[in-house]
Amino acid sequence: MNHKGTQTITTDRLTLRRFTVEDAPAMYRNWASDDAVTRWLTWPTHPNPETTASLLEQWCGHYGEEDYYNWVIKFEGEPIGNISVVQYTQRSAWCALGYCMGSRWWNKGIMTEAVCAVRDFLFDEVGFHRIVIEHAIENPGSGRVASKAGFTLEGVQRGKFYSSREGRFLDLALYGCLAEDRER
Ligand SMILES: CC(C)(COP(=O)(O)OP(=O)(O)OC[C@H]1O[C@@H](n2cnc3c(N)ncnc32)[C@H](O)[C@@H]1OP(=O)(O)O)[C@@H](O)C(=O)NCCC(=O)NCCS
Repeated sequence: MNHKGTQTITTDRLTLRRFTVEDAPAMYRNWASDDAVTRWLTWPTHPNPETTASLLEQWCGHYGEEDYYNWVIKFEGEPIGNISVVQYTQRSAWCALGYCMGSRWWNKGIMTEAVCAVRDFLFDEVGFHRIVIEHAIENPGSGRVASKAGFTLEGVQRGKFYSSREGRFLDLALYGCLAEDRER
């Protein structure tokens, strides 16, 4: 693999770029403070803008690492969400994507556009062989994004994730895409 770090990617409607700490107010306002966004996620809704600012300081501190991939999604000039590599292995060249976006912008095809762009960057520029997306089965919109971006449903992992918010273990659907799948 040829790690490149978080490089700016542009699509028809979006700019995907590195966060800066100045994005904190928009991140808090547009998605981190939104209970609808965090419902099925691993992190709780941010209680105040300081929580978001402190998280962004941590994230921005990682941009010097060549294997750190975390983009803010900008749409019509506004930061509205993020997409990142949440896990990867060097040896087998696979990675997992995570993403979220403010509910005001849902169902406009935005995340599918972002996933397709990041998928191509990670396959073509970095050299990953396999990318996976996992989502709680109660959150089918995320599976629909994966499917529209060319990922295949490979199975359901029972009770894989404990949700503090739900107070129970959730089943996670697993979607996978291989670099060669795009040629089919
Ligand atoms: C999941 C999420 C990223 C989708 O982003 P988005 O930009 O709205 O996605 P798209 O518009 O590209 O596609 C959404 C698709 O899901 C479908 N969908 C939405 N809610 C649905 C539901 N409850 N059941 C079935 N399909 C649903 C939409 O109809 C659309 O499909 P279509 O284009 O065939 O009509 C966004 O809702 C989000 O950020 N949610 C909160 C965070 C989250 O859940 N992240 C994923 C964690 S795994």
